[in-house]
Amino acid sequence: MERIVEKRREPEPVQFDRNIEAHQIHRAREAQQAAALPHVLKSFDVPWTMGMMAFHRQWIGSSPSDRLKQGPICTMAIMEQILEPGMKGGRHRHVREAMFYVIEGEGYEIHDGKRWEWSAGDIMTVPSYCDHQHFNSNPRQKARMWYSISPIVEFMGIHWTEQIEMRSGYSIPPDSEPIYGPDQAVIGYRNANGEEFRMGVNLAIQQRINSRLENVIHIDNPRDTYEEDMKLLEEEVAWRQSVPHVVRNAEVPWENTRMGRRKFLVTRQRNCGLKAYDAFLQELPPGGCSGKHRHAAEEVHKILQGKGYDVHDGKRYDWEAEDVVCIPPYVTHQHFNSDPQHATTFVAFQSRWYAFIGHGGVEHLEDARDRQ
Ligand SMILES: [Fe+2]
Ligand SMILES: [Fe+2]
Repeated sequence: MERIVEKRREPEPVQFDRNIEAHQIHRAREAQQAAALPHVLKSFDVPWTMGMMAFHRQWIGSSPSDRLKQGPICTMAIMEQILEPGMKGGRHRHVREAMFYVIEGEGYEIHDGKRWEWSAGDIMTVPSYCDHQHFNSNPRQKARMWYSISPIVEFMGIHWTEQIEMRSGYSIPPDSEPIYGPDQAVIGYRNANGEEFRMGVNLAIQQRINSRLENVIHIDNPRDTYEEDMKLLEEEVAWRQSVPHVVRNAEVPWENTRMGRRKFLVTRQRNCGLKAYDAFLQELPPGGCSGKHRHAAEEVHKILQGKGYDVHDGKRYDWEAEDVVCIPPYVTHQHFNSDPQHATTFVAFQSRWYAFIGHGGVEHLEDARDRQ
């Protein structure tokens, strides 16, 4: 008798989901990479370059490919810019918001056609998708600004920079060939790899982004959740149009806090159009130190004058004027003035992204002291 072999269906091979494993391995690698980066970036290590906008140098890069290359900071790109006496910077527009601290000089902005004056010590803000251009109004003195743009926006799927006008004296890179428009004006160039860069406004992007600001229906009493959302948009548009773009240093008082003497230039309470940042100035008295604390939000300092050191999780990092100090998330930190004769000052930028997702707040560990 013939044997009948029953043919059973082979079980489906089990596909292992390795997402969480891969994420953990990736994060461990990134944490190692961040731990190897310096917390104090020295001014002489960061070269100046000349591009479409102005003299410029990049302390911490803004592209995803720049992540954890220069300093252990992920949510704030850090740049510096010089406008020569009387110089006009490039004009452009991007979705990323930007915050500038004016280190020296005086000038003004044109933001979506409106003029905003600034001078040394002020914070100048560029809200998201604002057509902006910097002008040095002093024919004898350069203007210098330390600033940040937010690399997080690169991951949002709407980021774009439209370069509308070049700075005074700009010419295309030497290894490139110009692209001409119908009236023989240069409208872009082709680089050595044959890739094209186009100047000017991108009307398709402008139409898409501005429609959310223009097609706003006025709603007095929302009838449902959908209308509540529409009302929120209307309020947001009105708020964006009303906030000042420059925070005047002279109009913000110094406060003696547990962390020391601070001037809070940009906070959630202060009326300016930024969402991604906070900023303050801090002064350390001769031989004194700040308080000691810990928070999730990344913080970056530009030392404006003096010399001293930070202690981060028990490790000492020395700094002097012009250096940039990086404080990564959850690092316990305290700032010391090592000069017994002179005060030190620094400007601090802090990322507000952490508070947005519920990682705000501060653990305060020690109060500031006049003498160490
Ligand atoms: Fe910009
Ligand atoms: Fe801090």
